[in-house]
Amino acid sequence: MTSTLQRSGVPELLDLHPAAADMQQLVIEGLSQTPKQLPAWFLYDAEGSRLFDLICQQPEYSLTKTETALLQDQAMAMAAALGEGTLVEFGAGSARKVGPLLQAMQQPAYVALDISADHLAEACTRLQQDHPGVPMLGICCDYSQLEQLPSHPLLKHQRRLGFFPGSSLGNFTTAAAEALLRQFRRLLGPGGTLLIGIDQPKATERLEAAYDDAAGVSARFALNLLQRLNRDLGSDFDLDQFRYQARWVPEASHIEMTLISQREQTVQACGQTWHFAKGEALTTETSHKYSPEAFLALASRAGWASEARWSDPRNDLSLHLLKQAD
Ligand SMILES: C[S@@+](CC[C@H](N)C(=O)[O-])C[C@H]1O[C@@H](n2cnc3c(N)ncnc32)[C@H](O)[C@@H]1O
Repeated sequence: MTSTLQRSGVPELLDLHPAAADMQQLVIEGLSQTPKQLPAWFLYDAEGSRLFDLICQQPEYSLTKTETALLQDQAMAMAAALGEGTLVEFGAGSARKVGPLLQAMQQPAYVALDISADHLAEACTRLQQDHPGVPMLGICCDYSQLEQLPSHPLLKHQRRLGFFPGSSLGNFTTAAAEALLRQFRRLLGPGGTLLIGIDQPKATERLEAAYDDAAGVSARFALNLLQRLNRDLGSDFDLDQFRYQARWVPEASHIEMTLISQREQTVQACGQTWHFAKGEALTTETSHKYSPEAFLALASRAGWASEARWSDPRNDLSLHLLKQAD
């Protein structure tokens, strides 16, 4: 589906959201696996995006505050290293991190990609008000499946400077992360660069608290996925019969976020009956943590080389600037 949802006074928005039939197919594929799992982007309907913003405000979840501060502190150096071009943000969410870069860059343009259509429209509108002189475009899509960026004046002649904060690469398995970095290389084209935020492994208690906050927002975020499937795809998950769990798996270097079936039960979804044993896990998301060395080895396999790196004083995370290796 391709349509333009432009309204007066807000940036142009292209809607390339996957069709319901494609979503159904992904649900069938995910629930057929052992353990059962679903693509992480399903977490982000309008309510999921709202809850994610709330997670970022929880005291246990320091990633957003740390990365935002790093971007504010180092914006001039990053802008100088990026050079001129169109910033293309993958998974922009509320687009609250890009402001200092837009401020510091010479004549920037901005393209935001995100799967959550309404949230993207609101984010772009707010950002446009804050930066009225910056040409902007929003694209609602699954960036991992995009064959190419649309032919649009903002993307035609300028260099494409990828921006992928939030350590969102961690939501992909290592093999899928490598494929995604190759995909970004293709989308950004010759001369394209990528500024990417990567969270590092840290103490188990810190990580598990960050992904299972005391206020229960992370749990509501995960359960909203079932609510979303019930509403959008007509499934009949009973939300009271699943309990959220976040667990650090050191051998995989990832946090595993699951919904645990509280009893033996069946669920109707996408025209099929799915059986859940008592205690069976449905994986909603994983968050892989990379040391700088492990990340750069992965990036190198995908054809990227390190140009620069900025870290916070506590060395919790890094923003890496990558250039194409050949
Ligand atoms: C973890 S949040 C990060 C948001 C923001 N970049 C930040 O750093 O705070 C991930 C964002 O990426 C979007 N997203 C996740 N998977 C996506 C996909 N496959 N294609 C497009 N957007 C995606 C979600 O809607 C959400 O806004």
